[in-house]
Amino acid sequence: MEVMQDHGLLMLNQMIYEYCGLNYTDRLSILKEKLAKRLTELGISHWEYCRYLKATPNEWDVLAELLTINETYFYREENQLLECCSIVLPQLREKHKTRPLKIWSAACSSGEEPYTLAMLIQETDKFPSGSVEIIGTDINKKVLQKAEKAWYHSGSFAFRRIPENLLKKYFSEENGGYQINSEIRKMVQFQELNLLNTEQTAQLGKVDVIFCRNVLIYFDQVTTKRVIQCLHQNLLPGGYLFLGHAESITDLALGFQKIDSGKTFYYRKEPV
Ligand SMILES: C[S@@+](CC[C@H](N)C(=O)[O-])C[C@H]1O[C@@H](n2cnc3c(N)ncnc32)[C@H](O)[C@@H]1O
Repeated sequence: MEVMQDHGLLMLNQMIYEYCGLNYTDRLSILKEKLAKRLTELGISHWEYCRYLKATPNEWDVLAELLTINETYFYREENQLLECCSIVLPQLREKHKTRPLKIWSAACSSGEEPYTLAMLIQETDKFPSGSVEIIGTDINKKVLQKAEKAWYHSGSFAFRRIPENLLKKYFSEENGGYQINSEIRKMVQFQELNLLNTEQTAQLGKVDVIFCRNVLIYFDQVTTKRVIQCLHQNLLPGGYLFLGHAESITDLALGFQKIDSGKTFYYRKEPV
């Protein structure tokens, strides 16, 4: 019985890895712990859960909620956000004056990253309404629902770094928390997207700038390479990629030029 259970857990680990890139091979006991409540609810074993997942594709949404780590906050790693809004975007706008610029916040969790970008874009005073479109995506539907609501509890982790002036200007106090103003909300759209699903990423289309921060740290080298190749395909020539500080892809040499501004680093896709 015990062997069967372990085999089921290994199989589940493999299925999860193939589906979304999360890899618990060295931490099977953690995976077991994360799944325990759900399996008790369903009254089934690991092995039976594998079959259940195959027969019930919506169950992947439940798993995404159980397994993903969604920690995020406004104004996170601000040097990258400031560099993007005050240098990269104005340069891109010079080149593409007649169409909106597109930014993709991949793995955006509950929306703090794309909303911060929208606020900083407004702060520059260089972008008329409709000239920048931001899309935030994540694999976890629940965090996206929170992002859509754009309401955050006042005592929450979300506000740990936000400057007072942005809080005052772009939020209004409501029901013990803060609601983001409609001018910022209308700059950002949200959509469910699994970074390992090439059909979904292809459908998203080409963008000028991608933020994909603090998610590659959960992937192994093989998955990281796969995701970076896909982001490369989604970027227009001369487009920019921002990764988290702990997520250098220098070793992968995948058609990006690294830009080190002194305060931060990011990548540029080679122009054609
Ligand atoms: C730690 S949060 C990062 C949020 C934000 N980018 C930041 O830097 O603050 C990581 C996010 O990656 C998402 N994620 C994990 N695997 C994913 C996948 N395969 N496709 C899309 N999103 C994924 C999680 O749901 C989670 O919301």
